[in-house]
Amino acid sequence: MSDSSSPHPSSFHRERAWTLLNEHTQSPSLLKHALAVETCVRAYGKREADAQGLTCEAHTALLEKYSATALLHDFDYEKHPSLEEHPFVGIAILTEQGWPEEIRTAILGHAEYSGVPRETHLAKTLFACDELAGFLTACSLVKPTKSIHDVEVAGVKKKMKDKAFARGVNRDDIVKGAAELGVPLEDHIAFCIAAMQHNAEALGLQGSPAQAE
Ligand SMILES: [Fe+2]
Ligand SMILES: [Fe+2]
Repeated sequence: MSDSSSPHPSSFHRERAWTLLNEHTQSPSLLKHALAVETCVRAYGKREADAQGLTCEAHTALLEKYSATALLHDFDYEKHPSLEEHPFVGIAILTEQGWPEEIRTAILGHAEYSGVPRETHLAKTLFACDELAGFLTACSLVKPTKSIHDVEVAGVKKKMKDKAFARGVNRDDIVKGAAELGVPLEDHIAFCIAAMQHNAEALGLQGSPAQAE
């Protein structure tokens, strides 16, 4: 085991992360954000694990690590949203609990102002997916069906130019994140749409005929 900093098997990472997130977070939208980011990050993790030719246990361990990182990236945000505290308060808790350094460094890297560089594939993936997952959720919720299945790349790119739409989402971070990850923007958007479509029900974005107008 290279992961000697954690007393727990890496296969428990996701479950522990989900528990910790829920201990600190009440807001349904923040929980949905965590799940949406996880969905995209985990999909990239699967692609990375496949590319590395990882097998059973190592493959699972990588996916658990990617899931946990995404689930935990904003776990302190509800109680500590200021730039002085987020994500630093959370990192202190993760350090105390013995979470692996790679996960903690990636979480620090999602906050540009931390000054921590994004060097690993995990850190680059988290940053690339954070704002985009939120934006794709917003794009889904303005559809009459409220479904991610009705979201397309061209429409997303158009909405990115509409400054009045989802103003809280930083477009520059989406563009920069894709570039850092080495994926063309259109491909990145398409990949994350597909990932979220596969997990639409858990994200509450599966749509419903009853919601159609
Ligand atoms: Fe954050
Ligand atoms: Fe986030």
